[in-house]
Amino acid sequence: MKCINMASNENPYGPSPRAVHAMQSVLTDCNFYPDNDSLELQRKLARLHGVQPEQVMVGAGLTAVLDIIARALLSHDLNAITSERSFIVYPTATRAAGGRLIEVPMRDDGYDLDAIAAATDRNTRIVFLANPNNPTGSMVPAAEVDRFLQKIPEHVLVVLDEAYYEFAQYFARLRGIEYSHSIDYVRQNRNVVILRTFSKAHGLAGVRIGYALGPPQLISRVAEMRPTFSVSLPAQSAASAAIDDEAHIRESVTRNAEQSELLTRSVSEMGYRVLSTWANFIYCEVKEDADRVAQRLRNEGVHILPLEKWGAPTAIRVTVGRPEQNEVFLSAFKKAMEPAVAS
Ligand SMILES: Cc1ncc(COP(=O)(O)O)c(C=O)c1O
Repeated sequence: MKCINMASNENPYGPSPRAVHAMQSVLTDCNFYPDNDSLELQRKLARLHGVQPEQVMVGAGLTAVLDIIARALLSHDLNAITSERSFIVYPTATRAAGGRLIEVPMRDDGYDLDAIAAATDRNTRIVFLANPNNPTGSMVPAAEVDRFLQKIPEHVLVVLDEAYYEFAQYFARLRGIEYSHSIDYVRQNRNVVILRTFSKAHGLAGVRIGYALGPPQLISRVAEMRPTFSVSLPAQSAASAAIDDEAHIRESVTRNAEQSELLTRSVSEMGYRVLSTWANFIYCEVKEDADRVAQRLRNEGVHILPLEKWGAPTAIRVTVGRPEQNEVFLSAFKKAMEPAVAS
């Protein structure tokens, strides 16, 4: 049976047609190596964010960028800090760089920034903050990040991972909350790196492209660790075209907001706790072994993520799909949970 994949937080509406066209139009130039510095895109991103080109580093997706940052700053004896139940690449990137990852317990299903600040020591080099967080979908508002940064010592780089920025920004406008003014930190040359990706709202997860914004000295130090020619020509062209397709981004975030609300309401009405999401997925407590629930959902043709590996054995993460996919999920979920409801 072909399953609907609601486990990877991809954009179910596809890439922008302008990005597809841009990729098609460079395919015949693929006998050449790509521009190693993605210069055109780097300049365009600098203009978009009102920063200098030297403050922008393009990489082959944030997964690769995180790995490069960890390798540039960590080694044995040094540590990085994040929250428990956060993005799975922070432990792997830290370990691959030979460093130690300290995972601070959560507070109220989100990052406990006071506890993270208190956990920093003289061997700490990085704090990873996923905002919104994956897999809980929680968000730390701008004012709290401001306060947090004041408590962080100068020798610690704060990596603000805003992979779900566009979704969170849209929710924030709807909910009347200030989500992020992280670009100000970059303009002020603070010891902060902002991460953004084209994998989510732009629908380009398959071509692997994302970027970091930060202080020029740090960006050039980190850029030295990049594998050569890692960002392909189609990826650079697609990203550049995707930035210009504001209508596509708007449609992705508005549909996501509508559909996440529908999923949240429907699953809550079935009696399960769903966290308020700021991203393109929902986190849900299923009150029983989530692996078993995932298996039953797979039998119904839907693939979701059980969260035992994240220390949440009775929780699942479900990517918000297209309306028809969400309908399939909801009826599969209802069926899969029937024995639990009856018992
Ligand atoms: C918080 C967070 N950061 C980064 C990424 C990875 O993004 P990319 O596709 O650019 O590697 C993800 C992907 O799920 C994510 O959830």
